[in-house]
This record gives sequence, C-alpha cells and structure tokens, in this order.
Amino acid sequence: MKPEAYQVWSGAVLSQVERALDAWVPADAPANLGEVMRYGVLDGGKRLRALLVMAAAEASGALHNAPGRDAALRAASAVELIHAYSLVHDDLPCMDNDVLRRGKPTVHVRYGEAQAMLAGDAMQALAFEVLTPEDAVAADTQVAPALQARLCRLLAHAAGQAGMAGGQAIDLASVGVALDEQALRQMHRLKTGALLRASVQMGAACAGVAPGTPAWQSLTVYAEAVGLAFQIVDDVLDATQPSDTLGKTAGKDADANKPTYVSLLGLEGARAEANRLLDEALGALLASGLDPVACAPLRALAERIVHRDH
Ligand code: IPE
Ligand code: IPE
Ligand code: MG
Ligand code: MG
Ligand code: MG
Repeated sequence: MKPEAYQVWSGAVLSQVERALDAWVPADAPANLGEVMRYGVLDGGKRLRALLVMAAAEASGALHNAPGRDAALRAASAVELIHAYSLVHDDLPCMDNDVLRRGKPTVHVRYGEAQAMLAGDAMQALAFEVLTPEDAVAADTQVAPALQARLCRLLAHAAGQAGMAGGQAIDLASVGVALDEQALRQMHRLKTGALLRASVQMGAACAGVAPGTPAWQSLTVYAEAVGLAFQIVDDVLDATQPSDTLGKTAGKDADANKPTYVSLLGLEGARAEANRLLDEALGALLASGLDPVACAPLRALAERIVHRDH
C-alpha cells in the first residue's frame, strides 16, 4: 500500500472511530466522571487496535454490508476503550507510577487516583455496552445477537486473567527478575498481544469467519506475531526515544528494573526479533487465501507497528 493510500484509508477510519467514541463516552456521568473518562479516551493515541479491527474486517469482507460495518466500528471503539482503561490503570502509582501519557499529564495526576481507578472501571464496562446495542438501533444496521455475544467473548477473554490483566500481573511480579525468553514472550503475549489478537479476530468475526477455518488460523498467526512485535518495539522505543516523541516518560523500564526484550537480547537483538515477527505476519497473510488487495491495510499496519518511532 502506497503511503498516500494508507493515509487516506487510515484517515477515514480514525475520524470514524473518533466520532463514535466522542458520541459514546458520556460527558454527563456523575460527579465529573464523564470528564475524566473523556480525558483518558479521546484526542490521543495511535488507535492501532481500532485500525487492526477495521483492517481485518476489510480483509475478510465484513465492510460490504451495514451490519458488518456497524459491528466493526463498535468492536474498534470497544477495544480502544479497554486499551485506554488499561493505560489509565497502568500509569497509577501502584503500577508503573507514570506522570505523562499521550503527551498530557496522566489521568490520576490530573484528577486523582480514585477518579482514575473509577474512570478505568467505567471504560471497561462501557466497552461491553458498546458491543451490545439496544434494539432501538435501525434494523438494517443491527448487529446480530450471536455476533454481539462472540465479540464480547473475544474481548472479555483478551482483557481478563488469560490476557491483559494476567499479563500485567506477571509484569508487576517480574520487577528485578531476569526472565528467560520463553517467560518474557508469555508476559508480552498476555499483557499486550492478547488485545491486538482480539482486535484482528473481532474484525474477522464481523465477516462471520469461523474459528478453525484457514482464514481464521492465518489471521490469528498474523495477529500473534504483530502483537508480540508491538510490545518488543514498545520496549525498544522506551530505551531509544525521548519522552516528547513518545508522549510518555522514556527510560521507565530500565529505571523500574523491568525485564524487557532490550534487557534480554540488547537493542539489535530486539529489533531483529521484531523484524522476524514482521516476516512471519506477512507470510501468514500470503498463505491465508484472503484477497491480497483487501489485505493491504493489514500489511501496512504490520509494517508500521514494527517500524514506528512512537
Ligand atoms: C502503549 O500502547 C501500551 C502498550 C500496550 C505497550 P500504544 O503505544 O498503542 O498506546 P497509544 O494508544 O498509542 O497511546
Ligand atoms: C503496558 O505495558 C501494557 C498495558 C496493558 C497497558 P507498558 O507499561 O510497557 O506500557 P507503557 O510503556 O507504559 O505505555
Ligand atoms: Mg506497565
Ligand atoms: Mg507503563
Ligand atoms: Mg512500555
């Protein structure tokens, strides 16, 4: 995909997702909680998980009809809500104790720890509300109940103990511990990889792609490779980029004595592993049997995730 074509494609997706989140995250929640939630979710972030949902939906043909498009937009917004909640909690003093996120003071610095905790809780719940629209939605854009349930299950599984929350628990239990590559890979797969994998799988689910089919399996191999590469690159950027490029505090992992791909393999080793995973992801798409033209956004995203600078 040429850079201009990617800009057009991603620009359209990003404005759609931003509009949807703006409409769905309420400003009028009690006791200022709406303002806190909106501060944590809107106007920031690369929205890579939303882009992965929409790219996978496009690759598997979900966007040809109104219910597929509605489901994909809801899934893209829901995964960004879960991700934003995970960041708000990740930054709390009891976790990574970070003061800068997306170029702004972190939510707890701005609004206090209790509001940050509650805003994260409310974002998590909102994600599942977004996936289960009320019947009042126009019938021709209605997401079928079975698809609603499937999307909820994919996202819940990726967010919980077997995914992000479990990975975060391993992360905190591993401070000062020299993990071997297998243990580090498992931590990264859970804390970050699970939500990226769910993003791709939710996009495919919107097209009715069934688990066990060749397309589902290839997309899952793609998503697991990209998900792991994503966190390896996050580790590399933490060690190599300044805070103003990252929009978050640089050098935190070494300061906090966290095991990372950089501490395990060194910078060059970590970069080489990310590139190996990129090849694996692109190979899986080639073998998927999906229309190569429709897979262009997924290919472009994998490249960008590995070659990004923030
Ligand atoms: C940062 O994720 C947290 C990790 C899982 C490493 P992103 O780099 O996707 O954060 P935003 O959404 O763009 O701010
Ligand atoms: C966070 O990993 C993963 C989450 C589940 C939020 P990091 O702690 O490395 O993320 P950053 O570097 O603070 O964004
Ligand atoms: Mg962390
Ligand atoms: Mg952190
Ligand atoms: Mg990090």
